Order: sequence, then structure tokens, then C-alpha cells
Amino acid sequence: MKNNYLVGIDIGTKKICTLIAQIKSDGKKEDVEIIGYGIAESKGLRKGAIVNMEETVEDIKRSIKDAELTAGVMVESAYVNISGKHIQSINAKGSINITGRSKEISREDVDRAITHASAIMLPGDRSVLHVLPQEYIVDAQDGIKNPVGMVGTNLDVYIHIITGSITATKNLLLCLKKAKINVLGMVLSHIASAEAVLTPDEKELGVLSIDIGGGTTDIAVFEKGAISFSGTIPYGGDNFTNDLSIGIRTAIDRAEKIKRRYGCALDPNLKDETFEVPSVSGKKPRQISTSLLMNILKPRAFEIFEMVKMEIEKEGLQNSINAGVVISGGTALLDGILDVADGIFSIPVRIGSPYGIGGLIDKVNTPEFATAVGLIKYGFNDMKDKGILRNKPINFTQKIKNYFGV
Ligand SMILES: Nc1ncnc2c1ncn2[C@@H]1O[C@H](COP(=O)(O)OP(=O)(O)OP(=O)(O)O)[C@@H](O)[C@H]1O
Ligand SMILES: [Mg+2]
Repeated sequence: MKNNYLVGIDIGTKKICTLIAQIKSDGKKEDVEIIGYGIAESKGLRKGAIVNMEETVEDIKRSIKDAELTAGVMVESAYVNISGKHIQSINAKGSINITGRSKEISREDVDRAITHASAIMLPGDRSVLHVLPQEYIVDAQDGIKNPVGMVGTNLDVYIHIITGSITATKNLLLCLKKAKINVLGMVLSHIASAEAVLTPDEKELGVLSIDIGGGTTDIAVFEKGAISFSGTIPYGGDNFTNDLSIGIRTAIDRAEKIKRRYGCALDPNLKDETFEVPSVSGKKPRQISTSLLMNILKPRAFEIFEMVKMEIEKEGLQNSINAGVVISGGTALLDGILDVADGIFSIPVRIGSPYGIGGLIDKVNTPEFATAVGLIKYGFNDMKDKGILRNKPINFTQKIKNYFGV
């Protein structure tokens, strides 16, 4: 696979989605188009963490194979996501003096300031996944996005550092190694989803991104164009399905189908309908009403958004999210979810579908593909930043392998 292809593999609790994109260039500007996709059921994860490695490797391979068949190219390397309870994030500040005679800030000065900010003591079981600059301050002037070329005596930088457990990270890399994939970058799921669905204006004004998947709810806040908070709540669509399975006494797979077809989290004008549900252990089928489903699903939806709100308030970020809330992930497709969120956050709320990419986008432009499309968008920007699209040879795979020893 040459540099003009780009692959994202979203390893989720419910599904593993591989997207293959082609990088097109008209000589001046590059663009990406999705040319292949593969979606496999994921059976080896629980709440975003790998609990069965062999199963996960098989599921990754199946999703890659399907993507290869639709795209007609072989996958060798990819950007992959990472999530789960083990992820932690902190904000830090670094400060340096500008020593050059001209006092003009260079790229090296910026790197030095970032290195200073990142020099925090990490426990031995954690590794850094992302170091994301938020804002630079040159002497007393704040709010600077890129200080290179400016003149000053002192440079401060605020950064957001995201760390993960070394064990969880190594296990993920090992799964990909077994699936014969070179990892070009490990991207926090929150960052990938946000990349796919948020607009630059929202990120600038302040926005809360909520990706409600099957096992987890990933939350991230962006302000002044940069991420300032990320967290994970260990609840998702599976909890809605389990609640239904218990509430209407039916098997999980049937509850899942019922949730998708008839489920609604909130609708004040719900037209009550009934449908038949076969009972377990050969008893007579029962009639179930859509209002009963809503009574079961509603408390769970409220609970998840209340937990998100509590996290945001704990961080003191409630007044920072001026542009509102954007919801992605498969559970964004649950009817009425927007109305529940609307009632909890008294700011604008919308469903986020991936945008800004071409090709087979109609296959993946729903909220459940936010992370996968985001990996492509992130990878594209990353390759541009690192000069890979201009054929500058950098061996990131080896770098990542060396770092984690796999
Ligand atoms: N139409 C729908 N109505 C209600 N729920 C839906 C619908 N479609 C998908 N879901 C739910 O979305 C969830 C899967 O979402 P998604 O594909 O984003 O999860 P994932 O990325 O595999 O998991 P995670 O991000 O938690 O690791 C499931 O719980 C599924 O029931
Ligand atoms: Mg997901």
C-alpha cells in the first residue's frame, strides 16, 4: 500500500469498522475519498477495553478483509482508536525564555516549551498518547495559536496531555500486530469522533462532544479550537438493551432489535402502539406497548446525560460550551435521545454525523461511524503535518513499536 492510501480502524465494543480512503491530489491540494469499508461484529471488548484478544484479532481481520474487498487494495498500516476507563487526561503549562539574539520564536522554541510542559511525573504503568497544545502566551499576550515567527522574551504554552495504561495500550498494539497491521497512530476515540462531526466554529466557541457507543460514552470539551477535557463514562447502548431485556423479559438479541425498531427515549406526543414479543421458554407471545419501552429507556438516557453534566460541572466547564452539545455514536440513533439531552443541557443540542469527506460517504455518514471517519480525517491531517504526503520518509511504525516494545 503506497502513501496515497489511508486506513482507519475503529475498534469498538459493538463493531469494528475499517475504512480505506484514497488521497487524491490535483497538484496543489490533497483530498481524501473513502473507497472501501468493512464492518464486523466486535465480541472481544467490554466497555471499550479488550477482554478477549483472540476474538478481537479475528474480528479485526474480518473487518479489514471486507474493506479490502470493496476497495480492491491490501491494508498494511492504519490509524486506530483507543478508549476505555484507563484513559486519563490532565492540563499542564510550560514556560521558556527565548534565547536567540533576534528574540524571534522558532519551531524549536515551541517544541522546547511543549517538552517543558510535558515533563510531568507519570506513574510507571502509564504512557502518553497525545500531547495537544491549547494556547500560547508570548510575554503578556495570550490566545496565540501559532507563535512561530513572533518576537518575545518569554513563551508559555498550555497543553492537554492524554495518557493510557501501558498494558491496555500494549494489548491493543499486539492485536493489530497479530492482524498484520502496522500502527501509524493511536488516536483517542473522543478526538477521532470530534474530528468527524464538530465544525471549526464550534470548537472555537466551546462545544461538548458526546459519543454514546455500545459500551462507553466518550465526552470531550473543545474551547478556543483545542481540546480542554476528555473523559469516559462506562455506560452506553448496551445498558439500554439490557434494561429492555430485563424489563420486557426477552433475550438480549431480541431486545436489541426491539430497541432499534420501536425504542424511544422521550416523546411527549408518543402514539402508543403495541407489538408482539415471543416469550422465552415456549410461553405464549406477549403484547408490548411502545410507552412501556419508553418508560424503560427514558431513565437510562437521563442517567447518562446527568452523569455527563456532573462531569462537566465538576470540571467547571459548564460556562465554556457556548456552541452547545453534539451527540454521535450508535446510540445517537435512538429516537428521542436529542429531546432528553435538550432537557438536561439548556444549550443547543444536535446529532453529529461525519462530514467533510468524499467517496463512499453515504455508507458511513451516520453518527455510529463518527470515530471511523474521524480516524481518516485525523490521519490525513497527521500525514500532512509530518510531510508524509510529500513523500518524506519517516518510520512511525518502528517508532511506536520501539516505544512500547512490541
Ligand atoms: N437505530 C438505533 N436505535 C437505537 N440504538 C442504536 C441504533 N443503531 C445502533 N444503536 C446502538 O448503538 C450502539 C453501538 O454504537 P457504536 O457502533 O457507536 O458502538 P461502538 O463504537 O462499537 O462501541 P464503543 O464506542 O462503546 O466501544 C449499540 O448499543 C446499538 O444498540
Ligand atoms: Mg465507538
